[in-house]
Amino acid sequence: MKKIAFLSQKGGSGKTTLAVHTAVAATEAGERVVVIDTDPQKSATVWGETRSQDTPIVATTAATDLDRVLDAASHERMTLAIVDTAPHATPDATRIVRSVDLVLIPVRPTAFDIAAVGSAVDIVKAAGVRAAFVLSACPFRSPEIAETRIIMADYGFLTSPVEIIDRRAFARAIATGRAVTEFDSDGKAATEIRALWAWLKEQIQ
Ligand SMILES: Nc1ncnc2c1ncn2[C@@H]1O[C@H](COP(=O)(O)OP(=O)(O)O)[C@@H](O)[C@H]1O
Ligand SMILES: [Mg+2]
Repeated sequence: MKKIAFLSQKGGSGKTTLAVHTAVAATEAGERVVVIDTDPQKSATVWGETRSQDTPIVATTAATDLDRVLDAASHERMTLAIVDTAPHATPDATRIVRSVDLVLIPVRPTAFDIAAVGSAVDIVKAAGVRAAFVLSACPFRSPEIAETRIIMADYGFLTSPVEIIDRRAFARAIATGRAVTEFDSDGKAATEIRALWAWLKEQIQ
């Protein structure tokens, strides 16, 4: 079972949106997926409860219990675990990143998000875990996208070539317990998420 966590110390950067959308795209591509929600705010859990589908499975746990839940998921022959996180302080954040194969750090191309990236990077580097950035909720065709890519390159991690644009469909999907691939499969948001999953899959293979 491959394990991915979405991490950033900034609320609103897109962790939950990307976690559940990646989970659905991977499910649609044939993976057996569990979303593990370690955020006490439980946004992914609420999304899961709103859904009419049984997959992906959504589990809720404290960060301190993550390894046990990952073991159980592996036992159930899940092929992919996607961990959603709160802006946890260490040691919980450290515990989470040490438990996964790859950490994804969503970054909105804004000054506040860019300024907040350092703390996630510090946690990941101290733990010696692989990480990559994903540009999230980007204003369509804005020059800030390329500028942010240049700044992120200095941290020494990859940035996904797939950027996720700020689209109302993403917010609508979360609010209605769905993913964009489920209600507008040919739409641009769905195309972006499938491309992100294709790239992520390459990274964890
Ligand atoms: N690509 C996007 N397009 C439009 N809205 C987005 C996008 N990504 C996130 N959002 C919205 O931004 C807010 C914060 O996103 P969320 O995924 O909850 O962030 P986090 O989990 O990091 O706090 C939510 O209201 C969500 O609907
Ligand atoms: Mg969240």
